[in-house]
Amino acid sequence: MRLGLALALLMLPVPAVAAGSQPASMIPGVERPERARQNYILKCQGCHGPEAQGNRSNTPPMANMVARFLAVPGGREFLGRVPGVATAAVSDAELAELLNWTLYRFDAAHVPPGFKPYGTTEIGKLRKTPLRTETAAMRQTLVRAMKTNQATGK
Ligand code: HEC
Repeated sequence: MRLGLALALLMLPVPAVAAGSQPASMIPGVERPERARQNYILKCQGCHGPEAQGNRSNTPPMANMVARFLAVPGGREFLGRVPGVATAAVSDAELAELLNWTLYRFDAAHVPPGFKPYGTTEIGKLRKTPLRTETAAMRQTLVRAMKTNQATGK
Protein backbone atom coordinates (compact mmCIF):
# COMPACT_ATOMS: atom_id res chain seq x y z
CA MET A 1 0.00 0.00 0.00
CA ARG A 2 2.66 2.51 1.08
CA LEU A 3 5.08 1.11 -1.48
CA GLY A 4 2.35 1.47 -4.04
CA LEU A 5 2.00 5.13 -3.13
CA ALA A 6 5.75 5.65 -3.41
CA LEU A 7 5.83 4.06 -6.84
CA ALA A 8 2.84 6.10 -7.93
CA LEU A 9 4.65 9.29 -6.82
CA LEU A 10 7.77 8.34 -8.75
CA MET A 11 5.76 7.65 -11.86
CA LEU A 12 3.75 10.86 -11.83
CA PRO A 13 4.13 12.54 -15.18
CA VAL A 14 6.06 15.79 -15.39
CA PRO A 15 3.40 18.47 -15.81
CA ALA A 16 3.14 20.18 -19.16
CA VAL A 17 4.52 23.70 -18.94
CA ALA A 18 4.29 26.79 -21.04
CA ALA A 19 7.21 27.15 -23.41
CA GLY A 20 10.20 28.81 -21.77
CA SER A 21 9.11 28.36 -18.14
CA GLN A 22 10.75 26.01 -15.68
CA PRO A 23 8.80 22.82 -14.98
CA ALA A 24 7.45 22.84 -11.44
CA SER A 25 9.02 20.23 -9.19
CA MET A 26 6.69 17.45 -8.09
CA ILE A 27 8.63 16.91 -4.86
CA PRO A 28 7.54 18.99 -1.87
CA GLY A 29 10.28 21.36 -0.68
CA VAL A 30 12.46 20.59 -3.72
CA GLU A 31 12.72 23.45 -6.15
CA ARG A 32 15.23 21.82 -8.49
CA PRO A 33 15.41 18.02 -8.25
CA GLU A 34 18.36 17.85 -10.63
CA ARG A 35 20.40 20.18 -8.42
CA ALA A 36 19.47 18.12 -5.35
CA ARG A 37 20.51 14.94 -7.13
CA GLN A 38 23.86 16.46 -8.09
CA ASN A 39 24.43 17.64 -4.53
CA TYR A 40 23.64 14.16 -3.28
CA ILE A 41 26.14 12.62 -5.69
CA LEU A 42 28.85 15.10 -4.77
CA LYS A 43 28.34 15.44 -1.02
CA CYS A 44 26.56 12.37 0.27
CA GLN A 45 26.86 9.39 -2.04
CA GLY A 46 30.48 8.65 -1.10
CA CYS A 47 29.32 7.42 2.30
CA HIS A 48 25.64 6.64 1.73
CA GLY A 49 25.87 4.97 -1.70
CA PRO A 50 23.90 5.66 -4.90
CA GLU A 51 20.78 3.94 -3.59
CA ALA A 52 21.33 5.13 -0.01
CA GLN A 53 22.04 1.56 0.91
CA GLY A 54 24.88 2.67 3.22
CA ASN A 55 27.71 0.28 3.88
CA ARG A 56 28.16 -2.38 6.47
CA SER A 57 31.27 -0.96 8.05
CA ASN A 58 30.18 2.54 8.98
CA THR A 59 27.10 4.05 7.34
CA PRO A 60 23.54 2.91 8.12
CA PRO A 61 21.08 2.56 5.21
CA MET A 62 18.73 5.46 4.53
CA ALA A 63 16.76 3.53 1.91
CA ASN A 64 13.34 2.56 3.27
CA MET A 65 14.38 3.99 6.64
CA VAL A 66 15.31 7.65 6.76
CA ALA A 67 11.79 9.13 6.78
CA ARG A 68 10.86 7.00 9.78
CA PHE A 69 12.83 9.44 11.92
CA LEU A 70 10.10 12.00 11.17
CA ALA A 71 7.60 9.89 13.10
CA VAL A 72 9.40 9.99 16.45
CA PRO A 73 9.89 12.97 18.81
CA GLY A 74 13.22 14.67 18.11
CA GLY A 75 13.66 12.88 14.80
CA ARG A 76 13.03 15.89 12.62
CA GLU A 77 15.71 17.88 14.45
CA PHE A 78 18.10 14.92 14.39
CA LEU A 79 18.04 14.73 10.58
CA GLY A 80 19.08 18.38 10.33
CA ARG A 81 21.88 18.00 12.88
CA VAL A 82 23.67 14.76 11.93
CA PRO A 83 27.23 15.71 10.99
CA GLY A 84 26.96 14.68 7.32
CA VAL A 85 23.97 16.98 6.87
CA ALA A 86 24.82 19.90 9.16
CA THR A 87 28.36 20.33 7.86
CA ALA A 88 27.67 19.77 4.13
CA ALA A 89 29.26 22.47 1.98
CA VAL A 90 26.00 23.82 0.53
CA SER A 91 23.84 26.83 1.38
CA ASP A 92 20.96 26.53 3.83
CA ALA A 93 18.46 26.68 0.95
CA GLU A 94 20.19 23.90 -0.97
CA LEU A 95 20.59 21.83 2.18
CA ALA A 96 16.87 22.03 2.96
CA GLU A 97 16.16 21.05 -0.64
CA LEU A 98 18.68 18.19 -0.49
CA LEU A 99 17.25 16.80 2.74
CA ASN A 100 13.68 16.96 1.40
CA TRP A 101 14.83 15.28 -1.81
CA THR A 102 16.64 12.56 0.17
CA LEU A 103 13.49 11.76 2.13
CA TYR A 104 11.29 11.41 -0.95
CA ARG A 105 13.90 9.79 -3.16
CA PHE A 106 14.88 7.04 -0.76
CA ASP A 107 11.95 6.60 1.58
CA ALA A 108 8.80 8.23 0.22
CA ALA A 109 6.66 5.48 1.71
CA HIS A 110 7.51 6.55 5.27
CA VAL A 111 7.10 10.31 4.85
CA PRO A 112 4.26 10.99 7.31
CA PRO A 113 1.01 12.43 5.94
CA GLY A 114 1.03 16.18 6.45
CA PHE A 115 4.84 16.37 6.52
CA LYS A 116 5.96 19.97 6.23
CA PRO A 117 9.12 20.09 4.12
CA TYR A 118 12.27 21.44 5.76
CA GLY A 119 12.67 25.15 5.12
CA THR A 120 15.77 27.29 4.72
CA THR A 121 15.44 29.08 8.07
CA GLU A 122 14.79 25.85 9.96
CA ILE A 123 17.81 24.10 8.46
CA GLY A 124 19.95 27.18 9.04
CA LYS A 125 19.09 26.99 12.72
CA LEU A 126 19.52 23.22 13.11
CA ARG A 127 22.88 23.06 11.40
CA LYS A 128 24.31 25.63 13.81
CA THR A 129 24.43 22.91 16.45
CA PRO A 130 25.79 19.86 14.63
CA LEU A 131 25.75 16.65 16.61
CA ARG A 132 29.16 15.35 17.63
CA THR A 133 29.99 12.54 20.04
CA GLU A 134 26.34 12.20 21.07
CA THR A 135 25.21 11.21 17.55
CA ALA A 136 25.27 7.42 17.97
CA ALA A 137 23.44 7.45 21.31
CA MET A 138 20.79 9.84 20.06
CA ARG A 139 20.32 7.77 16.92
CA GLN A 140 19.89 4.63 18.98
CA THR A 141 17.23 6.26 21.16
CA LEU A 142 15.30 7.38 18.08
CA VAL A 143 15.53 3.96 16.42
CA ARG A 144 14.21 2.38 19.63
CA ALA A 145 11.28 4.80 19.62
CA MET A 146 10.51 3.75 16.02
CA LYS A 147 10.42 0.13 17.07
CA THR A 148 8.03 0.95 19.90
CA ASN A 149 5.81 2.78 17.39
CA GLN A 150 5.89 -0.24 15.16
CA ALA A 151 5.06 -2.64 17.97
CA THR A 152 2.08 -0.54 19.02
CA GLY A 153 0.90 -0.10 15.45
CA LYS A 154 1.50 3.67 15.24
C1 HEC B 1 31.62 10.88 5.90
C2 HEC B 1 30.47 10.04 5.58
C3 HEC B 1 29.12 10.72 5.39
C4 HEC B 1 28.79 11.75 4.53
C5 HEC B 1 29.70 12.48 3.55
C6 HEC B 1 27.38 12.01 4.71
N1 HEC B 1 26.87 11.17 5.67
FE1 HEC B 1 24.96 11.09 6.25
N2 HEC B 1 25.45 9.79 7.73
C7 HEC B 1 26.69 9.19 7.87
C8 HEC B 1 26.66 8.34 9.07
C9 HEC B 1 27.82 7.50 9.58
C10 HEC B 1 25.37 8.48 9.63
C11 HEC B 1 24.84 7.85 10.92
C12 HEC B 1 24.83 8.86 12.01
C13 HEC B 1 26.22 9.30 12.35
O1 HEC B 1 26.95 8.54 12.95
O2 HEC B 1 26.58 10.43 11.91
C14 HEC B 1 24.65 9.38 8.75
C15 HEC B 1 23.34 9.75 8.98
C16 HEC B 1 22.59 10.52 8.11
C17 HEC B 1 21.19 10.83 8.28
C18 HEC B 1 20.32 10.41 9.45
C19 HEC B 1 19.73 9.07 9.19
C20 HEC B 1 20.33 7.95 9.97
O3 HEC B 1 20.00 6.80 9.66
O4 HEC B 1 21.10 8.19 10.91
C21 HEC B 1 20.82 11.58 7.21
C22 HEC B 1 19.44 12.14 6.91
C23 HEC B 1 21.99 11.74 6.39
N3 HEC B 1 23.05 11.09 6.97
C24 HEC B 1 22.00 12.44 5.23
C25 HEC B 1 23.17 12.82 4.58
C26 HEC B 1 23.21 13.76 3.50
C27 HEC B 1 21.98 14.41 2.88
C28 HEC B 1 24.51 13.92 3.18
C29 HEC B 1 25.10 14.82 2.13
C30 HEC B 1 24.88 16.23 2.33
C31 HEC B 1 25.30 13.08 4.06
N4 HEC B 1 24.46 12.43 4.88
C32 HEC B 1 26.67 12.95 4.03
C33 HEC B 1 27.78 9.36 7.05
C34 HEC B 1 27.90 10.36 6.10
